[in-house]
Amino acid sequence: MADEPLVLGIETSCDETGVGIVRGHTLLADAIASSVDEHARYGGVVPEVASRAHLEAMVPTIQRALKQAGVSARDLDGIAVTAGPGLAGALLVGVSAAKAYAYALGKPLYGVNHLASHICVDQLEHGALPEPTMALLVSGGHSSLLLAPDITGDVRPLGATIDDAAGEAFDKVARVLGLGFPGGPAIDRHAREGDPAAIAFPRGLTGGRDARYDFSFSGLKTAVARWVESRRREGREVPIADVAASFQEAVVDVLTRKAIRACRDNGVDHLMIGGGVAANSRLRSLAQERCDDAGILLRVPRPGLCTDNGAMVAALGAEMVARGRPASTLDLPADSSLPVTEVSVPGHTHEEPSPKGGSAGGGSARGGQAGGAHGPDSAHGNDHAHDHAHSHAHDHDHIRRQTTSIS
Ligand code: KG4
Ligand code: ZN
Repeated sequence: MADEPLVLGIETSCDETGVGIVRGHTLLADAIASSVDEHARYGGVVPEVASRAHLEAMVPTIQRALKQAGVSARDLDGIAVTAGPGLAGALLVGVSAAKAYAYALGKPLYGVNHLASHICVDQLEHGALPEPTMALLVSGGHSSLLLAPDITGDVRPLGATIDDAAGEAFDKVARVLGLGFPGGPAIDRHAREGDPAAIAFPRGLTGGRDARYDFSFSGLKTAVARWVESRRREGREVPIADVAASFQEAVVDVLTRKAIRACRDNGVDHLMIGGGVAANSRLRSLAQERCDDAGILLRVPRPGLCTDNGAMVAALGAEMVARGRPASTLDLPADSSLPVTEVSVPGHTHEEPSPKGGSAGGGSARGGQAGGAHGPDSAHGNDHAHDHAHSHAHDHDHIRRQTTSIS
């Protein structure tokens, strides 16, 4: 429909330069330039390399998206951009570009949260999100169960990983197996030839007294590494397909079990799964099986919309415009550790909400909701000494909170 908002979205939180264009819930363009090949030989994303690649790819990718969508930049109703979380330098490139286009074209700017975008993208595939939405968000940097009464302003963490993110575990296990980076797709492929019941790997935090909605994948990762090492020490062949399938099964078993529990406990009859790991074929099939058994409607976007892309940012931007949410100011900061509860970033010159609340708009997204002491994926207490070469997930969670303003 022509009266739905036409929004361009820019994503640069990690190694994909994504530019998407949507009209309301309709995807018009999804242009991506990835620097993943440049990182592969380091076994993880190198922030400086990613930032430089974003800079080089930005303008051509925007032009490609506009051409693909068959629209002129002048027709846009807004420009949305990932303001965080992610790699600080990489985010800055996207935020700077979005400001430049917004300023030059005289269009409103929307700085949005990467994680909420991973959820909102499903509107392009399956139409309006139900309210509240129950979402399992699984990516290289995050593994969270989120309840979102309003995807443009109210996202509440129910639980999260207390150590590694699910995608991080996939990447690390792939490295142990010598499958290269990123590891998720490679494990997914090898697992198809393997037996998921071949090795009984541990299921973290599934005891009766463990946190109901939190995850832990660090012990599983170590168990896989030990198992593989002992086979090698004995001079025996490592059955890569069986290890991949058994590891993958342990991850998706826990993810789906806890997600369905969260739906049941909260009386929600559907489940959305988003983030790069949602591209995993076994996660998709097991989630479907278990949701069918539980009478829960499953919504998972197609794999290309699960991994990082610009369309997801445009989708959330369009929803912000449609709901009359306030735009960000041009001093919008990039925030590498933006909490999941902050769906949009108003900018420095926006008025802060009063301590008693009551402020509508961008301000209402602020302030912790549920989640208490264990904020989303914040509890990285573990010692990852032997993992120091790894990856963007590490950076997502370990970079000191760093709010950088450019205007
Ligand atoms: O959402 P995303 O593209 O970037 C982040 O925000 O982190 O997620 C990337 C993560 C990587 O860890 C990658 O290995 C994982 O998603 N991934 C997969 C699959 N495709 C990507 N994990 C398991 N199976 C897949 N098919
Ligand atoms: Zn992501």
